Amino acid sequence: MQTPILIETIEKMMTPGKGVLAIDESNGTADKKRLAPIGVNGTPENRRRFRELFLDMDGNETFLSGVILYDETLKQSNSDEKPFVDILADKDIVIGIKVDEGAKDSDEFPGEKITAGIDGLDERLAGYYELGARFAKWRAVITIDTDSGLPTDGAIRKNAEILARYAELCHKNNIVPMIEPEVLLQGSHKMDIAEQVTGRTLTIVFEELDRRGVDAKYVILKTSMVVPGDASGELMESEKVGATTVRMLNNSIPQNIGGVVFLSGGQTSEQATENLDAIADEMQVQGAPWMMTFSFSRAIEMPVLEAWAGKDENVAEAQEIYVDILKRDAWAQRGML
Ligand code: 13P
Repeated sequence: MQTPILIETIEKMMTPGKGVLAIDESNGTADKKRLAPIGVNGTPENRRRFRELFLDMDGNETFLSGVILYDETLKQSNSDEKPFVDILADKDIVIGIKVDEGAKDSDEFPGEKITAGIDGLDERLAGYYELGARFAKWRAVITIDTDSGLPTDGAIRKNAEILARYAELCHKNNIVPMIEPEVLLQGSHKMDIAEQVTGRTLTIVFEELDRRGVDAKYVILKTSMVVPGDASGELMESEKVGATTVRMLNNSIPQNIGGVVFLSGGQTSEQATENLDAIADEMQVQGAPWMMTFSFSRAIEMPVLEAWAGKDENVAEAQEIYVDILKRDAWAQRGML
């Protein structure tokens, strides 16, 4: 593990006023959740065009410090046959790669999911480093269902052990691990439950990292904001989201963490931006020793994809919407909205 490489990657990724675009959907998710809703067929070429819209745009480097790609995209090129990795390197945008193989239903923990993909990961990470990736993402999924007593500590612990093993392998390959234990916002739980569950999850994750000797200084946490469940009937208020999220993080994560980035998790584009801004404000109020920025997928992509609808003649208009969202997220990152 060469710490100067990890430090350089983290410093670039956490540059104030910039954030990380998560455009790392697996082929299945890209086809079903991104392209099908806008009436576009899921083919390698259409997935390439979708990624070109976001990656190959003049000026996106003003707001993006990094992007998370999927394996297929890492090896694809723009319409002029310039590899996406070269386009990103020229813009000094740090390249990340999703390396987990998805959250699978668990036999051991009914109703919960455990993330797959550790087999052969060491070799895959070495290969991705050669291709230019400097950070990697692993997503675990934590479901809240208070009626069924979910999540269980057992499932959280199992996912945390795997996250820690993954982080250890990343460090061995000079890749910064972005660890993502996503607490889903789907459910009828209120915000206080979301705070408890997210805090408990993060505490267990950092216990397991510690047990494996993984230094949090070289780790980026990708977390959910603390929001009420989407079927809870509780109003989502940005100020409350900001105050609760910052309190939960200060209670649950190591002070020396490399950085914190937020997923959008199904919030609308506007909600995610406003909540990010409120978190930045609240970090000033409560004090926070960690740096944070956005790492949204849906909250950036969806309005842009709708405007694009797979048509070349819509690219310019879609990219205007894209820049506007990035600009607002970059302001929100500094609490300047
Ligand atoms: P969302 O912002 O759509 O939650 O996606 C972020 C992500 O990386 C999911 O793994």
